[in-house]
Amino acid sequence: MALFARATSIFIVSYKNYSKLILPTVKSKTWKNFPSKSTFFGHSILNVRFSHSDQTKKGEPETFVTFDNFLKERRDEAKRSILVQVNTENSLKDLHFYCSTFGEIKSMFYYVLSDNKSHHVLVEFEKVESVDAILKSATHIKLDQVIPVHSSMLYFRKLKAKHLHAPKLKFPVKYAKLPVKDKHFLEVLQNSKTAAQQVQKCYSILKLDDLGLRLRFQTAHQLERCFSGIFPDMEALPFGSSVNGFGKMGCDLDLYINFQSNRSENEESRLVFQTKRLHDNERHQCSDFVRIIGDLIEIFAPGIFNVTKILKARVPIVKFDHRITGVECDLSLSNMSAIYMSELLYIYGEIDWRVRPVIFTIRKWAQSQGITSGNPGGYITNFSLTLLIIFYLQQKKVLPTLLELRSKALLNDLRITDTNVDCTFLRDISMLRNIEPHGEDPYALLRGFFDYYAGFDFKVDAVCLRQGAVLRKKDSSPIYICNPLEPSLNVSRNVTYREMENFRTGCRDAAWRLENAEKRHFDNSWGIISLFVHKVRNTNPGLNVADVMREREPESEESDFILASK
Ligand code: UTP
Ligand code: MG
Repeated sequence: MALFARATSIFIVSYKNYSKLILPTVKSKTWKNFPSKSTFFGHSILNVRFSHSDQTKKGEPETFVTFDNFLKERRDEAKRSILVQVNTENSLKDLHFYCSTFGEIKSMFYYVLSDNKSHHVLVEFEKVESVDAILKSATHIKLDQVIPVHSSMLYFRKLKAKHLHAPKLKFPVKYAKLPVKDKHFLEVLQNSKTAAQQVQKCYSILKLDDLGLRLRFQTAHQLERCFSGIFPDMEALPFGSSVNGFGKMGCDLDLYINFQSNRSENEESRLVFQTKRLHDNERHQCSDFVRIIGDLIEIFAPGIFNVTKILKARVPIVKFDHRITGVECDLSLSNMSAIYMSELLYIYGEIDWRVRPVIFTIRKWAQSQGITSGNPGGYITNFSLTLLIIFYLQQKKVLPTLLELRSKALLNDLRITDTNVDCTFLRDISMLRNIEPHGEDPYALLRGFFDYYAGFDFKVDAVCLRQGAVLRKKDSSPIYICNPLEPSLNVSRNVTYREMENFRTGCRDAAWRLENAEKRHFDNSWGIISLFVHKVRNTNPGLNVADVMREREPESEESDFILASK
C-alpha cells in the first residue's frame, strides 16, 4: 500500500459520455445573438490558438506544426492544468479568485456532464509551478473513509464562513461546445452556399474541439502522475483519432503507455538502479502489466470506472470510462507503430486542406448508412475507411504515396520501432502543403470517391498506400488494405463479405443520390444532404430530413460535451 500510495499521484481518463452531456436550448442561429455569459460558443469568440491547423478557410495558411510539436504543446498544456469540480456555474468567479493566489491563470473552461450533472472547470495556469503549489496545498477530507491519493482532479468546497466577494473575472470563461444535433447539422448544410462548402462545414461542425483535446491530454497526464512514483519517465501518449486530425466530438481516447520514455543509458553514471528482470516471454509480460495497470487504476484512480481488461488480444488493452472528463479510453502498452500511424495520418491531413473535410463527410455518411458501427464485428472501421479515402486521394494526385514521403525523409525522420517496423517518412511537410485552392473542390473529390469504390474490384484487388497502387490480393479477405507501415498486414481483415458488399452498394447509392441532388438544386436535401438521409439498418439510423426538420429537439447524435448554462 505504501508503494502504491507513493506511486499513485493519480489520475484521469476518457470520454464518450459526451453523448450524455447536457446542453442549453439554443434558439438563435449565430453566436452574436447568445447571451455573453452563458454562451457555449464563448471559447470560439476568443482568440484561442489551435495546434491542429484548420485549413478549411482558403487562402489563410496556418503555420505547420509537426506532430511531435503538437504532442509536446498539448502535453505541456496538460501539465499546467487542473480539473476542478464545482457546485454550480456560480462558483466560477470564486474559483478563479482562489486559484489566482497560486499563480497567473491562462484560461478556464467550464462544462457539465449530463449523466451525473456534475459541473467542472479546467483551469490552465501560465506556469507548471502554480499547479505544484496548488496540489501541495490541497487536502483530503474524511481521511478514514477514502484512499488518500494525490491527483490534479479536485473538488472546490464551499467556505464555511462568509467572505468578501471575489473580484470580476479578468477574462471570459470558455464554455463547452454544444453537441452536434441532427437538426443543427442539417440546418448548417442547408444554409451553405455550395456543396463544396457543405463538405467543409461537415468538418468544422463535427471535429474534436480545443476543450475535447485538452481533456484527452489531461487524461493522459493523470496516468503519468499515477505511476510517476515507480516510473518517473513513463509517458502516456494519445494516439488514434484524438490526435490524427480525424477525431470527431466524442471520439474515444486511444492511449499508449511507454515505460522507458526515450531515456538511454547514462554511461557516465557509476550508480546503477537495482531492478528485476523482464520475463523472456515479452507478450506474457505485456499482458501482466496491462492487468496490473487495470487493477491499479480501477482501485485508486478518481473518476475511473468500468475497467475492462482485454488481455488475450494481439494487443492487450484496458478499457475504461472517466466520469470527470467524460472520455472513454483504450489503454495499451506496446504499440509504437500505431503511434507512427497516427503521425502519418496527421501528416496526410495537413498536406492538403481538402483532405479532412472529405474524410469527415465520408465518415459521417458511412455512419449514417450503417457501413461503420460503434460495435465490434465485421464492419469497416473508421481507420480502414480513412485509409481507403487516402488511397483514393493518392490516385487523384492530391496526396503523395508513402514511398514518396519516405524518399524525402531526412536523417532526423528515421524511426524504427522495437519490433523492427520501419516508420521513416518526411515529418516536416511545410514545403509539400497545398493550402491554395486548386484542382477539384472538396465536393468533386467526394463524388469521385463514391464513383471510384462503386467500381472497385474488391474480389481481386488490394489497395496499397505505400506504393499508391492497386495490387493483387494476397489472400481471400473480402477487402484487402495493406497496412502502409507493415505491408504484410491487412488492416481490414475483420471485414466480412456482407460488409464489403454493403460498402460497395452504399458507394453506388451515394453516387446516385448526389447525381439526383444536382438536378434538383436547392430543395431541402440539396447538395450532400441526401447522403445522410434514410436508414439502411436499424442499428444505425440515418436522418430523415423532413422528420428531423419538423422535430423541435431531435436526439443528439454524436455529442461531445456538455454544456452548461441556463
Ligand atoms: P482505432 O480503431 O481506435 O481508430 O485505432 P481511430 O483512428 O482512433 O478511429 P475511431 O475514431 O476510434 O473510430 C486507433 C489507431 O490505431 C492505429 C491507427 O493509428 C489508428 O488511428 N491502428 C489501428 C493501426 O495502426 N493498425 C490497425 O490495424 C488499427
Ligand atoms: Mg480510436
